[in-house]
Amino acid sequence: MSFNLIIDPPADVTAIQIVRRGHFATWKSALPPAQAAWVTANGFTAASGQALAMPNSDGTISAQVFLTEDLPGLWDWARLPGNLPSGAYQIDETALAEADADNAVLAWGLATYIYDHYRRSELEPPRLVYPKACDRARVDAALRNTYRVRNLITTPANDLGPEELAMAAEEVAHAHNADISIIVGDDLLTHNYPAVHAVGRAHDRAPRLIDMRWGDRKDRKLTLVGKGVCFDTGGLDLKPASGMELMKKDMGGAANVLGLAGMIMSAQMPVCLRVLIPAVENSVSANAMRPGDVLETRKGLTIEIGNTDAEGRVILADALFEAASEQPEVIIDFATLTGAARVALGTDIPALFVNNDNLAEQILAASVAAEDPLWRMPLWAGYQNLIRGKIADITNSPAGRFGGAITAALFLERFVEPDIAWAHIDLMAWNTVSTPGRPEGGEAMGMRAVFKALEKRFGQ
Ligand code: BES
Ligand code: MN
Ligand code: ZN
Repeated sequence: MSFNLIIDPPADVTAIQIVRRGHFATWKSALPPAQAAWVTANGFTAASGQALAMPNSDGTISAQVFLTEDLPGLWDWARLPGNLPSGAYQIDETALAEADADNAVLAWGLATYIYDHYRRSELEPPRLVYPKACDRARVDAALRNTYRVRNLITTPANDLGPEELAMAAEEVAHAHNADISIIVGDDLLTHNYPAVHAVGRAHDRAPRLIDMRWGDRKDRKLTLVGKGVCFDTGGLDLKPASGMELMKKDMGGAANVLGLAGMIMSAQMPVCLRVLIPAVENSVSANAMRPGDVLETRKGLTIEIGNTDAEGRVILADALFEAASEQPEVIIDFATLTGAARVALGTDIPALFVNNDNLAEQILAASVAAEDPLWRMPLWAGYQNLIRGKIADITNSPAGRFGGAITAALFLERFVEPDIAWAHIDLMAWNTVSTPGRPEGGEAMGMRAVFKALEKRFGQ
């Protein structure tokens, strides 16, 4: 059993009856008087998202009734398991439209996830029997990879440094027979990744570049890039305590990219896939990069370090330039890049920057369909002057904070060839509070949306 989903119903399975909001009155009026009274006594009204146990005369439960929207979406379905005690459940399939089956199962898995690595959970989540109409392989792949993303992000930095992140990438690669190579420590200099090295060299957990390849070389090329800062202290421009608190999640881009790659490979998408993850600690020590330093990059552009806390764009510069050097059809990067993106859009909506309107429309349409929000922001060329360096080509820390997500995206854009369709996703990768289907902790954001868009673009 995984994701709290099961294939065969046990003898003591409890039925779940679905009642849609618009049918509530009809449903209730058709009940025997004792049951109708039970519904009333429990305050069970046409408000949706509730579940009610209908009793037998001996006190056992005859069925759970789930009251939901007329056309429930993924996040409506996510309210179901939280309403139920432990045990096995089976949804009345006559009530299940085809799209509902996959959503109900995906939502169940998302909502019953528990991070229990460091303590045994006392909760035993309810389990659902897969409905027949559900595309199990597809939903399992989404859940397996979402769980992977959540686990990686929630794992504290003492147990997840650059090496452990690389091991996680190796695990994904081996599961799908992908090739993987990893450049570690000073080898980054001989292989010309000077910016990745400069950011990561201050920690004795050596920085590295993870490079995974999968698929037929003759297929269309797709390259994914993820920010893998395993902990972001801010470097010498050290973050205040409040800003550092959650910084184990600063490898959330890398985690999302590994999850997305897992989904792509599980689906056997006909692409020539490459995944690049610069994995570092942004730390403090005598050999840490300093404010005012000028760094070389793989591209040859020089970066003036205005603030060592703007480290993500620096490591991504080398990774994106390498990605672009093979002229893939599409490059997509995920990065927990700026606080400014969170000020603009809040924690739940990743900012999407795209240099190609066709790719942007594909991602945004898929985002709506997958109920996985993203919001487009502009690569506003008028702000280019803000990233000009005083003594080097570009600065990593524009004067003033206005438009901080945009100026970060413009910085990255300088390392991608303009004729390659490129999308940059600036995400939180963390649920700050628990809501149905989205427990507090690490989270995949934009992963299912981008997968759906790529599936449509690259076909089968
Ligand atoms: N990892 C942070 C950005 C971040 C902070 C993402 C909080 C999500 C939540 C990034 O490395 C950073 O520190 N960015 C600075 C850039 C600034 C110094 C130009 C920021 O956003 O303040
Ligand atoms: Mn930072
Ligand atoms: Zn960071």
